[in-house]
Amino acid sequence: MQPFVYRNDELYCEDVPVSRLAAEYGTPLWIYSKAFLRHQLGQIQQAFAAAEPVICYSVKANSNLGILQVMHEAGSSFDVVSGGELYRVKAAGADPTKVVFAGVGKTDEEIRFALENRILMFDVESEAELDAISRIAAELGVVGPIALRLNPDIDAKTHAKTTTGKKGNKFGMDIERFQELADKVLRDPHLELLGIHMHLGSPILTTEPYELAGRKAVEVVQSLRAKGHNIRWLNLGGGFGISYRQNEGPAASVYAEVIVPAAREAGCRLVLEPGRFVVGNSAVLVSRVVFTKREGGKLFVIQDGAMNDLIRPAMYDSFHRLWPVRPQVAMPENVEGEIPGCEKTDVVGPICESSDYFAKDRCLPPLKRGDLLATFSAGAYGMSMSSNYNSRPRAAEILVDGSSVKVIRRRETYADLVAHELPE
Ligand code: LLP
Repeated sequence: MQPFVYRNDELYCEDVPVSRLAAEYGTPLWIYSKAFLRHQLGQIQQAFAAAEPVICYSVKANSNLGILQVMHEAGSSFDVVSGGELYRVKAAGADPTKVVFAGVGKTDEEIRFALENRILMFDVESEAELDAISRIAAELGVVGPIALRLNPDIDAKTHAKTTTGKKGNKFGMDIERFQELADKVLRDPHLELLGIHMHLGSPILTTEPYELAGRKAVEVVQSLRAKGHNIRWLNLGGGFGISYRQNEGPAASVYAEVIVPAAREAGCRLVLEPGRFVVGNSAVLVSRVVFTKREGGKLFVIQDGAMNDLIRPAMYDSFHRLWPVRPQVAMPENVEGEIPGCEKTDVVGPICESSDYFAKDRCLPPLKRGDLLATFSAGAYGMSMSSNYNSRPRAAEILVDGSSVKVIRRRETYADLVAHELPE
């Protein structure tokens, strides 16, 4: 499904011209396709149906209430990593009893908040956390539902900053500690071990890491049952890759081919925590060219979108397709390398750091002040990682549904920037 297409030499989101939205709501501007969000979630729901999954959309990828509502209405549950994310899930009208809660540093307040809301389970990452959940569950007179997070020491071949399932990462625990804690849970009336959790990294473009994790899980589930645990859930986390460049992102069914058999063999229902796969290609970030300049033998296009909006290029050297909203040259399949009629360009923002760029040495059609540029695949870890750095108000977010348009976050004002500050 292609929510963003060029028609009559102009970019559309579903049935709405992107330039119309930019004129009406200003730039930089996030534009999301509702149909695409539903389509991506549907792909996962269908592909994994045989494992009776609870799909827990990973809130960290994009936590806007409007997006969470679309997910909830389409039958998704949620993966949270903070009390704030749980609060958002509730505010979106979703049922917290199917929520899973991961993260290495859950505070007592967050644990209490989650227990009071009867979440499905905690993904427990350490013995200290296990003890904290037990203590707070005892205080509340409830049983803490948990999965233990295994660090399976599998190399998912992601960016060093987003790998999580390798020995030496801060996440989860090795198999020896995992088994010790499983024994400890058996002796604790305030805890129940319901499942096993692994998250290997993000994004993962091959199925091999999941296949290895699935095999490991089957073994571990059998050993836990032998000890007397009633294990019902296998949670293999998130991490499904998407196409940032061309068609490198596998279909959901490709991942399902290796994951569903493992869940069935383990005799468990499946939990998945997809974030990027669902929301990544649902959005573009539209920016306007402020100036262009040639300096040091380079052409710089300076736009109003910056690293405070989309930090991924600065943080992970990540690649995003970029193309004018009204191009003089049609966007080719492959935007890397030489393109006739185009010139190597550095697309940068106004922030006072050299890391404030969206693309370097990228062949782009001629651009001038006032032109609009779309940055593609911006829906995941875009707005959710944005900041007010350089005192830049955060951009507005728009949800498009066919020809209808909804503002799901208004643009921040200068007054918003100082609203929480308490000067003398
Ligand atoms: N579950 C757990 C426990 C996670 O840590 C993550 C992501 C997910 C699920 C969702 O992963 P996804 O399906 O979205 O790949 N900011 C980085 C990505 C960081 C991912 C952190 N954990 C980026 O922009 O690439």
